[in-house]
Amino acid sequence: MQRLLTGIQSSGALHIGNYFGALKPFVDMYEKYESFLMVADYHALTTLREPETLRANIRNTVRDYVACGVDQKKAVIFQQSRISAHTELTWILNCLLTMPFLELAHAYKDKEARGIETNVGLFDYPVLMASDILLYDTNVVPVGADQKQHIEYTREIAAKFNAAYGATFIEPKEQILRDVAVVPGTDGKKMSKSYGNTIPLFGAKDEITKAVMSIVTDSSGESPTNVYNIHQLFKGGDELAALYKANKGNYKASKEALIEDIEAFIAPKREYRSHISDADVDAILKDGSEKARAIAETKMADVRQKIGVAF
Ligand code: ADP
Ligand code: TRP
Repeated sequence: MQRLLTGIQSSGALHIGNYFGALKPFVDMYEKYESFLMVADYHALTTLREPETLRANIRNTVRDYVACGVDQKKAVIFQQSRISAHTELTWILNCLLTMPFLELAHAYKDKEARGIETNVGLFDYPVLMASDILLYDTNVVPVGADQKQHIEYTREIAAKFNAAYGATFIEPKEQILRDVAVVPGTDGKKMSKSYGNTIPLFGAKDEITKAVMSIVTDSSGESPTNVYNIHQLFKGGDELAALYKANKGNYKASKEALIEDIEAFIAPKREYRSHISDADVDAILKDGSEKARAIAETKMADVRQKIGVAF
């Protein structure tokens, strides 16, 4: 059976971009694979310095996974930091890679270009992500389009290691849903936790309302493109076209319709999510992380042997 793995950084509340870009594709396909779903808490540490927030985010990310339909009996749900093989392999891979190779990574380049101070963790982000994927002999990685480069890096890193030490890692493929590859935010740019333009997936109705009402509309056209582009994730073609035709020129009505559709979609999941206790989450992470660790450690034993640190 082929292996599927993805992860989301526990850096803040999930938004609908995370859902349609990463989580939904995972939920749609994960039962056909041996599946792994990770909370990327060490990736979140590249930007988050508040321990209590990080702790809460980790648990909430697990709640999000379960509330979106991931059954812990059918997927290994685990926490990255509990498996030290991830950081260990990162170091080993670091020693194979050059600075110029990593300097081309978008995430780092973009932050540099915007004058944001970068830490070494952020620079090394793609290598930690490659370790996440390679440790589990992952075949397929469902992600949003923005992560494509990271999967390309992962393949190159696997190939470099294999060339240096012999066949060890599988080169994975990304799985990107084309029509929702980049979910736009309330400002029309990519929806992202770091841009403050999100519609929270599990927000209360008033939070969703506030976010939708803040969607920037272009006053030149008859249909608000930014609203429409988000709306099409929740409603099918003909029905949606008819709605926007009826609401021509009335942006507020389109936004209200979008709020209703998001609410209808999320309310049952939100209700289910509210019953997932800390104890439930802790049990899921304990069990999942043990399973993941066993696989990762087997791989590391091979890696340590191959690089020459094990006897
Ligand atoms: P963010 O950009 O909000 O910090 P992450 O980087 O944690 O989100 O992304 C987690 C997953 O969600 C990744 O697979 C990413 O590709 C996907 N994702 C994030 N934002 C979007 C978006 N606007 N459209 C589609 N997918 C997205
Ligand atoms: N970098 C990914 C993101 O920001 C999150 C992530 C970390 C990930 N490790 C992963 C995704 C491994 C897929 C596989 O979205």
